[in-house]
Amino acid sequence: MANASWVFTPTVPHFNKPMISPLISTFRSRVYPHDRILKRVLCSSAVHGADKVSVSELKASRVVGKGCKLVGCGSAVPKLEVSNDDLSKIVDTSDEWISVRTGIRNRRVITGKDKMTGLAVEAAQKALEMAEVDADDVDLLLLCTSTPDDLFGSAPQIQAALGCKGNPLAFDITAACSGFVLGLVSASCYIRGGGFKNVLVVGADALSRYVDWTDRGTCILFGDAAGAVLVQACESEDDGVFGFDLHSDGEGYRHLHTGIKANEEFGTNGSVVDFPPKRSSYSSIQMNGKEVFRFACRVVPQSIEIALENAGLTRSSIDWLLLHQANQRILDAVATRLEIPADRVISNLANYGNTSAASIPLALDEAVRSGKVKPGQTIATSGFGAGLTWGSAIIRWN
Ligand code: UT7
Repeated sequence: MANASWVFTPTVPHFNKPMISPLISTFRSRVYPHDRILKRVLCSSAVHGADKVSVSELKASRVVGKGCKLVGCGSAVPKLEVSNDDLSKIVDTSDEWISVRTGIRNRRVITGKDKMTGLAVEAAQKALEMAEVDADDVDLLLLCTSTPDDLFGSAPQIQAALGCKGNPLAFDITAACSGFVLGLVSASCYIRGGGFKNVLVVGADALSRYVDWTDRGTCILFGDAAGAVLVQACESEDDGVFGFDLHSDGEGYRHLHTGIKANEEFGTNGSVVDFPPKRSSYSSIQMNGKEVFRFACRVVPQSIEIALENAGLTRSSIDWLLLHQANQRILDAVATRLEIPADRVISNLANYGNTSAASIPLALDEAVRSGKVKPGQTIATSGFGAGLTWGSAIIRWN
């Protein structure tokens, strides 16, 4: 666990008060104007258990700039491919119904002893390789998942599997299909707040473990995958996280959830009649598809507009629209509302279905590696789903 302290070198005369709290609160909804941000933040860290590294070495390696950029990405999917025709053998559905209503044709599902963390590690390794960053130089690892292999959090297992020698902080972010956007924005806030140079953001989910495979209303939608992005501190002119907008609405929880099963042993007045309690388990995914559909089509365009405004940009600046891959009809509806042509919409859900927190980095990785998304291009990205939660970010690739 890292304990960070900060030494600031302000360049703006009127901005010489204590700086951490104004920065963090402002970043909740918008990127702080560059001319008012510190030129450099020098962080020294006392890392518990890292006694082989001297404090001066840590200081030297942790000079942090005022911008942050996406410098590497990676992804991983399980081997088992499940087609719509395969599903029609276990539930009353058809390839035609699924592809027309969702755009999905295939999905990948983990099997046997495979775990979500295995996919996450593979995706993270590929992102580090592309970024040419050593695992030892990772300062923070954020695992965005709602299906951790361990209820206490799986991020430290990924940190260990990657062999990050500096014991960087690693923890889970639980926000279902919005998880990756929240992780990306969190990474930018950590970097701009000072003390973190290389932040690995991993989105990984194995919702197949929580799907009711007898429910045709949900089992046709989901797949398993992992994707990762390395976010790195940089100078302001290279900044690649321009603006964002994040929300939640707990009132909408009932439309999409996988709640803990209620203890059914209650007395007539609601008091628990048996003790000790039974070991808990979670229900399968419960979803009101129509409501979630309407919610997404309503809030996502609004959220992207707000993120654009916070970035000081307009729709015409968007090179690519990269939404959480839930349903092709949602992607089309949002693009239409924002007047973004179909050939500027990144979509790979035909092959993978809805992979929750993994869907955005998985689609980004494919688009980058295929040469579709080029360095310097601007992407409007948005995640939405259970919670309910939703959020958007306007970013630049590399
Ligand atoms: O990350 C966020 C996660 N969730 C979402 O993004 C979900 C968003 N919602 C959706 O994608 C769509 O609402 C669904 C794809 C889930 C459903 O599409 P829909 O056009 O809203 O269909 P529906 O639920 O209104 O169902 C229409 C009909 C019903 O039959 P009746 O009552 O009209 O006779 C359903 O029983 O289609 C039936 N149906 C199916 N038929 C064949 C529902 N699922 C299936 C199925 N195969 N898999």
